[in-house]
Amino acid sequence: MSQSPLRIGLLGLGTVGTGTARVLAENADSLTRRAGRPLAIVAAAVRDLDAERDCDTSGMRLERDAVAVATAADVDVVVELMGGTGAAREAVLAALEAGKPVVTANKALIAEHGPEIFEQARAHEQPVAFEAAVAGGIPIIKAVREGLAGNQITEINGLINGTSNFILSKMASEGLDFAPVLAEAQQLGYAEADPTYDVEGIDAAHKLAILAMLAFELPLALDRIRTRGVGQVEAEDLEAAAELGYRIKHLAVARRSERGVELCVEPTLLPEQSYLAKIDGVMNGVIVAGSAVGSAGFYGPGAGALATASAVVADLIDVARGRVLPEPGPGKTLPFVDPHTVVSGHYLRVQVLDEPGVLQTLTGLLADAQVSIESLVQKELGTPAGWAQIVMLTHEVSLGTIDQVLVRLRDLPCVQGEPVHFRVSARED
Ligand code: NAP
Ligand code: HSE
Repeated sequence: MSQSPLRIGLLGLGTVGTGTARVLAENADSLTRRAGRPLAIVAAAVRDLDAERDCDTSGMRLERDAVAVATAADVDVVVELMGGTGAAREAVLAALEAGKPVVTANKALIAEHGPEIFEQARAHEQPVAFEAAVAGGIPIIKAVREGLAGNQITEINGLINGTSNFILSKMASEGLDFAPVLAEAQQLGYAEADPTYDVEGIDAAHKLAILAMLAFELPLALDRIRTRGVGQVEAEDLEAAAELGYRIKHLAVARRSERGVELCVEPTLLPEQSYLAKIDGVMNGVIVAGSAVGSAGFYGPGAGALATASAVVADLIDVARGRVLPEPGPGKTLPFVDPHTVVSGHYLRVQVLDEPGVLQTLTGLLADAQVSIESLVQKELGTPAGWAQIVMLTHEVSLGTIDQVLVRLRDLPCVQGEPVHFRVSARED
């Protein structure tokens, strides 16, 4: 007996939307078996009705009005792949109000409007699934919510922005400049519509807020995440870090201790032999530490049409089978750790006058601040004549102390420009 299809209203036919349409078409038979019924896109919302699409649109009604698609009588489930938090929010809320389950890849929407969306979902008893919102094709949401549900999760360390990892890897391995590598990431469909979300670390912060919410049963805490992006990393830093035995990666950290929850996304020096340091290109990696499992690592493509579609389609199967977990509640109240009190090693690079006594001035300044230097090298790094680059690694000291050191370094007459600073992670896994 043939089953009636689950009728999909797709909002967006860009990179992920066309990838989703292609996966649904190419794997139709096995997906029908896994979902228990065919999965069929009946309507899609786009801005440009005449644009060429990288998928077969012959069976779909194309419309400009996303809310109309989201609430259409012939749509059973809404898949939001438009991006942004304006029209997408409006359409998702409308879909839930109309009693339709929602699948979305939109981390900005969940991180910024999660409480409102989850409340609407609860009110109308509809699921919201968002596996594709974090780490692209890696099923990390399912892993954290279900596979590791027996644990108290204590820490998550990850590379969760594919564009940032692609940029840093290519700059480091091929000596390319930032701008052309970002352009390539955009051309490959990895970057956000507004790539400053990737470059400034905002996209990774959105994802970390979602992971921390699920792992620690916290409210979404975007505003508590210390956020820096790969736009602050220069070729000189990648080269200097490599010579010291490190890789610079855009690291997201969520850690829970007796002091509270620490959240940060920032370029960080990782020992070159560590698991995350070896992950290159658009690949993402996430290590979850749990009370029972110890450490579990996840690796896979963090962005791209088909990789992300893989997660979207998995959510669709869960919707078809009625097995999406209920929406997260309001969350526990936990204290947040002030990032300035967190202790780690630090990397400092300063451009200084190449004159006698300058090194003594620098080391004296650090000694006054009780900062112990682990290593110090003077480097050329393309510096103009008469100037030198001094690269230092410190022993463990608080970020607050390093911030004070940076202010004092900036004021020294022998220092030119802004001192560069990144944290150093001691993690070997
Ligand atoms: P995209 O290529 O820019 O596609 C966006 C699609 O939405 C386009 O088809 C666009 O129509 C349509 N659209 C945008 N605003 C609309 C509106 N107001 N009304 C109707 N249609 C509208 O974006 P994407 O890369 O696929 O990303 C989509 C979502 O997935 C975002 O939330 C993103 O963060 C997330 N995501 C992306 C990736 C990735 O690798 N790209 C990975 C994971 C998650 P036109 O084509 O006519 O302009
Ligand atoms: N722009 C995002 C990234 C897409 O590069 O990771 C996947 O979420």
